[in-house]
Amino acid sequence: MKTILFSSLAVAAVAAHNPLEARQSASSAASAGTGAPPPSSFSFTLATTNPTAIPLASIVSNAQTQATHALPTTFSPGATPTAVKGAPPLPNAALLAPSSYPALDVIVRTDSPEVQQWISEVNKSGIPIPDIAPTVAGGCPANPVAAADADKSRCWWTCGGCVQATDITTCPDKLTWGLTYDDGPSPYTPDLLQFLNEKNLKSTFFVVGSRVISFPSFLQTEYMQGHQIAVHTWSHPSLTTLTNAQIIGELGWSKKVIKDVLGVTPSHFRPPFGDIDNRVRAIAKAMGLTPVMWTRISPMATFDTDDFDLHSGASTASKVLQNWNFIEANATTFDTGFILLEHDLFQQSVDIATGYILPDALAHQPAFKIEPVISCMNKPLTDAYIETNDNKTNPPAQSASGGPGSAQATGGSGSNGSAVVAALPGLGSVVAFTISLIAVMTL
Ligand SMILES: *[C@@H]1O[C@H](CO)[C@@H](O)[C@H](O)[C@H]1NC(C)=O
Ligand SMILES: *[C@@H]1O[C@H](CO)[C@@H](O)[C@H](O)[C@H]1NC(C)=O
Ligand SMILES: *[C@@H]1O[C@H](CO)[C@@H](O)[C@H](O)[C@H]1NC(C)=O
Repeated sequence: MKTILFSSLAVAAVAAHNPLEARQSASSAASAGTGAPPPSSFSFTLATTNPTAIPLASIVSNAQTQATHALPTTFSPGATPTAVKGAPPLPNAALLAPSSYPALDVIVRTDSPEVQQWISEVNKSGIPIPDIAPTVAGGCPANPVAAADADKSRCWWTCGGCVQATDITTCPDKLTWGLTYDDGPSPYTPDLLQFLNEKNLKSTFFVVGSRVISFPSFLQTEYMQGHQIAVHTWSHPSLTTLTNAQIIGELGWSKKVIKDVLGVTPSHFRPPFGDIDNRVRAIAKAMGLTPVMWTRISPMATFDTDDFDLHSGASTASKVLQNWNFIEANATTFDTGFILLEHDLFQQSVDIATGYILPDALAHQPAFKIEPVISCMNKPLTDAYIETNDNKTNPPAQSASGGPGSAQATGGSGSNGSAVVAALPGLGSVVAFTISLIAVMTL
């Protein structure tokens, strides 16, 4: 096994290319005195890397836009999904009419006949929706009343990590990694699929409904190759800030576009930013969706690689790889498996995954078992979709137990390093945030 050790010095040389990093270093010097290394010094060790990896010095916010790649395989309309037994033939994605769906990356309207229909179905499910007021954007600091209740009746994950028994937060078996990528499909998704194919790995993809409209064939290839497809809302809002009707619309349109492209509807979802409380849980349950979070190390830290922030420059490749080292070391000590947060929206996140994190994970001793979340839960892939679920090993979310009383708080109401809702002071900012994503998508 080849061991590559990047010293802090080498990392600092990489960081010098990044003006933001230099600023962080300067500001940390001002607050020095504890003897702790400044946050720009990140060291990490990798057992191996991909020989064709993009150099770390090029995985920066102002990186040159890379050429995108073709999908490893495409599938024709009518093809039989062999990975998902009993699934209907693949729909014709060319028939998808974007004009009959809500707009890209914008919170859905609730006055459409579709959303009105889903509201009525949620009502008819008989599942009571707790009377919890929406939070305001800004996370814990902006919501003192909700934060004080975060580990009680509200069970709000964002402030301290409260989870219910029905939330999937880890895989049950030691050293098993439920691999997930969020926020796609994107122009860089095929690069990731190519690598996963080469290594015979399958993942769970939490897809943003409005981006499925942009890349329906990417979604079809993921699905047909046996990856798990799951819901990540229509436009990636913080769900606890929305009204009941908006939450229903965000989940409903995502379920619908995935069904229109694949012929099946996911039974699992991940709340954007992990932002879930008992109101969101009840609505999701009424819509047949089981929440999937990511593993928490402590009240203040989760298994978040922070790969999302590489693109903006708020994080660096060396910091992400140090996060990854912490995660793999912690994971190795756990009695259960684990789930972490990674993304396939930006080229930088895909580059760090295929060049460094995944090759290192594959070389890890003792070996990790890397598989989609549904598989790590020891359930067949057919359970990942409402139409093919036989409802035996994976009863629909609607009939699953785990009501109030099973709340399990893992920490206080302190701020959470990985829930980035704090940066969004109002609905206007949510829109601004998503617009910046569109700008990237259209480069
Ligand atoms: C369904 O709607 C009716 C009429 O608005 C209301 O009385 C009832 O409580 C609702 N049921 C649920 C489960 O929300
Ligand atoms: C677990 O991660 C934390 C950082 O979140 C790190 O300080 C700690 O050293 C890690 N534990 C192990 C066993 O590596
Ligand atoms: C499982 O339940 C869902 C509704 O939640 C239904 O659509 C599906 O047909 C059921 N599966 C079987 C095999 O009965």
